[in-house]
Amino acid sequence: FKRPKIALIGGGQIGGVMAQIIAKRELGDVVMLDIVENLPQGKTLDISEASKTDHFDVSVTGTNDYKDIEGAGVVIVTSGVPRKPGMSRDDLLGINSGIIKTVGENIKKHAPDAYVIIISNPLDAMVTLMRQVTGFPANRVLGQAGVLDSSRFASFIAWELGISVKDVSALVLGGHGDTMVPLIRYANVAGIPALELFERKYGSKEKAKEVMDKIVERTAKAGGEVVALLKTGSAFYSPAASAIEMAEAIIKDQKRVLAVCAYLDGEYGVNGYYVGVPAVLGGKGVEKIIELTLNDEEQALFDNSVNAVKTLIEDMKKLNLL
Ligand code: APR
Repeated sequence: FKRPKIALIGGGQIGGVMAQIIAKRELGDVVMLDIVENLPQGKTLDISEASKTDHFDVSVTGTNDYKDIEGAGVVIVTSGVPRKPGMSRDDLLGINSGIIKTVGENIKKHAPDAYVIIISNPLDAMVTLMRQVTGFPANRVLGQAGVLDSSRFASFIAWELGISVKDVSALVLGGHGDTMVPLIRYANVAGIPALELFERKYGSKEKAKEVMDKIVERTAKAGGEVVALLKTGSAFYSPAASAIEMAEAIIKDQKRVLAVCAYLDGEYGVNGYYVGVPAVLGGKGVEKIIELTLNDEEQALFDNSVNAVKTLIEDMKKLNLL
């Protein structure tokens, strides 16, 4: 028997938290790679030295050499720069594209059979670029955004109702930007529509809708809310947890139904773009896209979000980044 090997490209804030979660859950051996010398070595040494108290036997190592990712079944990519206050994710396009291109070439060379989960922003564009550079099949190149956006949406609903977030199910579609589409109609608490519970709380449909609309807006801007507070970087605990949930679904062939930045080949009427949609995630990566019937309002919001992704991809082509 052999433990799975998980490579983390980028040993910054998100990379560090991911390494610790993987170790604590013993999901596999971790190799963390960064361009900064000694950073991944130092971080992983620190994490490893807690193996006694955290009770794990997996190995967690750091490297600056892509040879060490050989044999990785899953590669999670965070390399790049995060946002600063006032920046949108799209402002990172130029700098992160160059980084993702190099990273993709190295993944193709050293881990050609890996499933690749991207976190670097602007997410939909970076996943598209990774797919192009590696030439991997679409089921093996996916992006983390929807798990986090949906988790934020669910958290806000739970906080509003004063109930456990474990019983909330909420879904966010579309691109990972300000145009993302939290689906109000599908948000529920133990199967009960969340909006119905808001109505019961406030005794009015109008007030319930008003509160829900605020939550939807907060969800779409949640990343920026954290950036504005941190000032020196962007969210890292929640993106790390979200990406590991995806990696675990693949490693353990769980067939989870999660919101994933996945390649659409006609689904939702979208041809050839990476967009956030619900999908079945298992041992073969993105195994199935789940198509929802959207009402006119939802469809219009989704189309708007897809158009934002298309514009970003066009910009990349104009700049010769894709
Ligand atoms: N190869 C490998 N690692 C690189 C490269 C490269 N070419 N270029 C930069 N890095 C590393 C940096 O040295 C840094 O350690 O990527 C790491 C990024 O870490 P942080 O700056 O701490 O950023 P983090 O908060 O982890 O976010 C990373 O995820 O959510 C997105 O917008 C966010 O794009 C950003 C990414």
